[in-house]
Amino acid sequence: MNEGGVLVTGGAGFIGSHLCEALLARGQRVTVLDNFDPVYDPARKRAQLPAGVRLVEGCLTDPVSLGDALTDVASVFHLAARAGVRPSLIDAAPYVHTNVVGTVALLQAMRDRGVRRMAFASSSSVYGARRGVVFREDDAADQPASPYAASKRAGELFCAAAAASWGLNVACVRLFTVYGPRQRPEMAFSRFLHQMRSGEAVTVYGDGASARDYTYVSDAVAGLIAAHDAASGARVVNIAGGAVTPLIEAVQLLAAAVGVDAHLQYFADQPGDVPETRADLQVAMRWLGWSPQVSMTEGLRRFAASPER
Ligand SMILES: NC(=O)c1ccc[n+]([C@@H]2O[C@H](COP(=O)([O-])OP(=O)(O)OC[C@H]3O[C@@H](n4cnc5c(N)ncnc54)[C@H](O)[C@@H]3O)[C@@H](O)[C@H]2O)c1
Repeated sequence: MNEGGVLVTGGAGFIGSHLCEALLARGQRVTVLDNFDPVYDPARKRAQLPAGVRLVEGCLTDPVSLGDALTDVASVFHLAARAGVRPSLIDAAPYVHTNVVGTVALLQAMRDRGVRRMAFASSSSVYGARRGVVFREDDAADQPASPYAASKRAGELFCAAAAASWGLNVACVRLFTVYGPRQRPEMAFSRFLHQMRSGEAVTVYGDGASARDYTYVSDAVAGLIAAHDAASGARVVNIAGGAVTPLIEAVQLLAAAVGVDAHLQYFADQPGDVPETRADLQVAMRWLGWSPQVSMTEGLRRFAASPER
């Protein structure tokens, strides 16, 4: 499949860099739009950007950068975002700027240039704080527990509006906590791995009972590509690992993969964190023929074997 170039916004980030590698491997011409925001070390992002992509360094909200990035491009993977729940509770404005205003600017620029296909990296956080229920794409998703979650839901709604108003084909891919090599440094597994490798106590927020449907990064990438290829009108799809793992069990699995006895230090729950995520994967399986391939044990083994950043 190589009928036109693809644009990956946020292609220098954790998931974006893996996605670029996968797209290059299937023979596609890849352009990356990334502003190397300083939320974490920009040098690290530059280093993980795969060779062979065309880089446009700039912000989503800058029309000149957007125009350059969309030149000779047939479709888009939109991953650029202000990510992370906790900082959004302190200052929501950058989340609105990039995740809402930036997404709308991108959709309009696509409309103006006749670029009609997009996969949008949305998030399980849109489902809010619920426990003991399976998250289905047709749930209301109208009670976000953080400004980050609200900004992702707003992005989805503008994607739906772009499909209805301008005929774009947009798949909103609700990713459930993604982990693997190059994971963002402030995310729990990244912190745990660093702490285990340096012999520090592992810092756990809450009592360890919070649980997530963790997704290995190659499964997330395969889901994004399948949704991009299938996009028609506006659709939403969950992409998750398919097993709900309590935090404490994940720590034990990672410690076993690293080969250490982890010493745990508990801190109060962080506001904005949801107690559990649990994906229904019927839409992904039926619509995309996608299913998760990497178990937690295998994914954490690969993660533990990745170089220290
Ligand atoms: N990592 C997860 O577990 C997870 C879960 C659900 C959804 N997501 C979504 O997946 C996407 C990628 O997440 P990630 O973990 O790889 O994050 P990341 O921070 O590593 O990557 C985001 C990239 O976007 C770039 N960026 C930020 N603002 C920009 C702007 N205004 N213009 C251009 N580039 C900009 C950053 O420099 C960075 O390289 C995000 O949209 C995130 O909301 C991630």
